[in-house]
Amino acid sequence: MARAFPDKRVVIAPSILAGDFGRLGEEAQRAEEAGADILHLDVMDGHFVPPITFGAQAAEAIRRYTSLFLDAHLMVDNPERIIPQFCDAGVDNITFHVEASKDVEANMERIRAAGVRVGLTLNPDTPVQAMFPYLERIDMLLVMSVRPGYGGQAFMRESIERIMAIRRRADELGTRLDIEVDGGIDRTTAPLVVQVGANVLVAGTFLFEAKDIAAAIRELRGDGGRDAQ
Ligand code: DX5
Ligand code: ZN
Repeated sequence: MARAFPDKRVVIAPSILAGDFGRLGEEAQRAEEAGADILHLDVMDGHFVPPITFGAQAAEAIRRYTSLFLDAHLMVDNPERIIPQFCDAGVDNITFHVEASKDVEANMERIRAAGVRVGLTLNPDTPVQAMFPYLERIDMLLVMSVRPGYGGQAFMRESIERIMAIRRRADELGTRLDIEVDGGIDRTTAPLVVQVGANVLVAGTFLFEAKDIAAAIRELRGDGGRDAQ
């Protein structure tokens, strides 16, 4: 049974990609103790993006170390091959790339049927209009604010317009869509994306390399904590 998505104005999602890969379970616990709302798992296959990170087996292992809502971001070609494994691994949300999928609708249905939340995402050079047909049937839309594949890249400013366009369309449709932003989120860029309608913030480098991760989480949320780094 999937966990409920946190009911908060701004949901903070540390990306374990920036954590210590030799200690993934402990890193998940560190994020949880610091006040993370959900945990973002970046799955990379060496095809859709050059690096390879981890698969469903590691997600299942992380599941045993934390009670946080697990947010899987599949940066893989043909996500249909591994979606069933991730449904079984106990993650609570599965987000896949529209560019990588042969049959977007079938993937959405497969995830939904497993009782897992459905997320859809797009690369920075894919037009946002490509997502409009799906907005009423997904739980979350992830706007990539860097090219997927690596942590630590600079936030692409044009993402602000893209978030705005998606929030406007979701409002027109009357759908309460979660809009997640991923890439280059820090104390400067977080308020910019929240202001235009994003409500889920992924952050890797800014959180895992902070001196005080709890203060950095509060800072992203807009709760002060300016002593984070
Ligand atoms: C990049 C990943 C991100 C990454 C973000 O392809 O999808 O989740 O961890 O890292 P930062 O926050 O360092 O930009
Ligand atoms: Zn990600």
